[in-house]
Amino acid sequence: MRGRSHGCGRGFRGRYRYGPPGVGCGEDDPVGCRAVWRIGVTDTDPGVYRDPPAALVPIVAAGFDASAEEYEDAVLANLRGIVRLVAALPDGEHTRLLDVGCGTGWATLAAAKRFSIHEAIGVDPSHEMLEEFRHKLTAHPEIAVEIEDATAAGMQVEPASVDLALSTMTLHWIPDRKGAVAAMARALRPGGLLGLLAPAAGSDHALYEAMRSIDPPVPPEWLEVEHRFYVPEQELEDALCRTDLEIIDIWVEERRRHVPPEQLIARVLAVGHDVLLKTPGYDENELADRWDDTVAALKAATGPRGFEYTFRKVFAVARRARSG
Ligand SMILES: C[S@@+](CC[C@H](N)C(=O)[O-])C[C@H]1O[C@@H](n2cnc3c(N)ncnc32)[C@H](O)[C@@H]1O
Repeated sequence: MRGRSHGCGRGFRGRYRYGPPGVGCGEDDPVGCRAVWRIGVTDTDPGVYRDPPAALVPIVAAGFDASAEEYEDAVLANLRGIVRLVAALPDGEHTRLLDVGCGTGWATLAAAKRFSIHEAIGVDPSHEMLEEFRHKLTAHPEIAVEIEDATAAGMQVEPASVDLALSTMTLHWIPDRKGAVAAMARALRPGGLLGLLAPAAGSDHALYEAMRSIDPPVPPEWLEVEHRFYVPEQELEDALCRTDLEIIDIWVEERRRHVPPEQLIARVLAVGHDVLLKTPGYDENELADRWDDTVAALKAATGPRGFEYTFRKVFAVARRARSG
């Protein structure tokens, strides 16, 4: 394990742990820890990373509108990460939940299994995702549901009004991530918890390598996705350090995956269909051709165990101090 000293200047002085919490990833017991290997660019090269452009927000939301029905099948690994995030939250009486970028409701439902959630606010700019969320929550009449068709920047949540704020696999889409983390922090009551999960920088490098191999080349905007739509763990920590929350833990899981190329393609299209295939300034037929070339390159790079790539997830848990 390679850890890194870090801290906010107050409170948190830990190291990034690489691996899920509680499975022998402490300094004294490295069993189960995974080595961190460097793949091209990583969070150690912060100059490479830029925020997603705000102009893409409606395109991102429209993409999720289009994929809402297939979303869950295509990204099942997201659900497993959410369950691990919720399992890592400290115990407590958490009844009012805010879920930012709620999608189909996986994080809300995972939280409802663990805590006695009575009220859930789902915020998302995709109407279709919100419809899935609303539909899923009808099976839970014990939870009063509020839906907000909004981005993280536009949500209207009362300060100090929720016990638990979650955002899972969404921060990477948000142009002002620090602002979003600050808004979630403000929404917490004293003693309230914040749980974050995002795809970390360094993920999916093999996919972008396959794109880079194509001639005629794919639009440069496609290659930029690697540096715009993944969250460097240092950036997440910095965002939390700017709030007045106590950071309880930040950790990274890194997995080497071997999948049939169709599975990776389904995931990429479920989350990024419009970002790729409706890239502003390009002809849609030309984009479709470059996507076909990408699919062919992924298949050509697939070995006997499938297409091999690395995916990294960054998790964070923080808490607002109890007053008094
Ligand atoms: C990959 S999905 C994650 C959904 C759900 N949280 C999960 O873990 O399955 C990302 C969600 O973020 C939403 N989203 C995109 N841009 C957003 C923004 N600026 N603010 C809030 N949510 C956003 C999308 O509409 C989509 O539902």
